[in-house]
Amino acid sequence: MRTRTFGRTGRAVSEIGFGAWAIGASWGQVDDTAAKQALHAALDAGVTFIDTADVYGDGHSEQLIAGVLKERGERPYVATKAGRRLPKQVVEGYSLENLTGWIERSLRNLDVETLDLVQLHCPPTDLYYHAEVFGFLDRLKAQGKIRDYGVSVERVEEALKAIEFPGVVSVQIIFNIFRQRPAGLFFEQARKRDVAVIARVPLASGLLSGKFRSDTTFEDTDHRQFNRNGEAFDVGETFSGVPYEVGLKAVDRLRPLVGGDTTMARFALRWILMFDAVTVAIPGARTPEQAKSNAAAAALPPLPDEVMGELQRIYDEDIRPHVHARW
Ligand SMILES: NC(=O)c1ccc[n+]([C@@H]2O[C@H](COP(=O)([O-])OP(=O)(O)OC[C@H]3O[C@@H](n4cnc5c(N)ncnc54)[C@H](OP(=O)(O)O)[C@@H]3O)[C@@H](O)[C@H]2O)c1
Repeated sequence: MRTRTFGRTGRAVSEIGFGAWAIGASWGQVDDTAAKQALHAALDAGVTFIDTADVYGDGHSEQLIAGVLKERGERPYVATKAGRRLPKQVVEGYSLENLTGWIERSLRNLDVETLDLVQLHCPPTDLYYHAEVFGFLDRLKAQGKIRDYGVSVERVEEALKAIEFPGVVSVQIIFNIFRQRPAGLFFEQARKRDVAVIARVPLASGLLSGKFRSDTTFEDTDHRQFNRNGEAFDVGETFSGVPYEVGLKAVDRLRPLVGGDTTMARFALRWILMFDAVTVAIPGARTPEQAKSNAAAAALPPLPDEVMGELQRIYDEDIRPHVHARW
């Protein structure tokens, strides 16, 4: 497994990480045994970066991770998030008292003395104009409760504003073949400040695995069913905000480009790793087979220029009109 340096922290992390939302909740039924096996498979394959959040399964994802790491006696880099426990997303909710409470809960769930990384979990845009919140995080860092902090954002503009705060070591943002805007606007700035970039939703919620069809159905408890139109949270988190049928059509255009004996999922992950500014891509995996297969993307050779150009063309023609102005 190849590694990249996690920005100013200096920590080496695997290029492919593990997104632990799916093993917590909102993806239909995932039993704990399968979830743990998926995480074990990722770690066996050399993954050393795990992304979770205090709200995934209301702490269940964090607890599962703690259990697996205890069994293995390993300490990979574990990034969690805070902020979504608020009943309503308002800047005043990000008080020192609330942040302290959420962070202490994550410390208990993850069973550690210090959290490696806490990311503000897609807070309201206005928060990035409230320096005091970053001051609170500095205090929690000084108290030794967190080693570092970063942000998880919906929009490129939020990412650009967030990295003005010198304590922000990382930005998590949706970046995949169907979400190319961060590359043009944000990556250069992140590199200049040595900010780590975590590429989330790298498979566009599984769409970029190429396995879905028009008649594919999802469980009622799967956000790909209940959040198709943004009913529960930002619609951009589900299929990257690309209308399902539009995505399927574009996926059909991608199929002939996936060369050799690789899978479309690995191809999609390798595309992300073509960008040096990306530190780690964090595919979610619900089975050990998916986790193992995804980790293998790091070993693929670089994609040829013609393929990169064709992927840009497909994005510009089919996808861009649906996402580029929004996120
Ligand atoms: N606001 C935020 O900060 C935020 C929001 C969203 C996500 N995230 C983070 O980003 C991570 C990744 O995003 P995501 O999980 O939403 O989406 P994703 O990684 O784009 O898609 C994950 C889904 O794709 C399918 N899949 C994975 N590997 C596959 C493979 N090899 N072959 C075929 N299908 C495969 C699985 O679904 P099925 O098997 O069910 O089809 C899996 O649950 C999350 O786990 C979470 O850690 C953060």
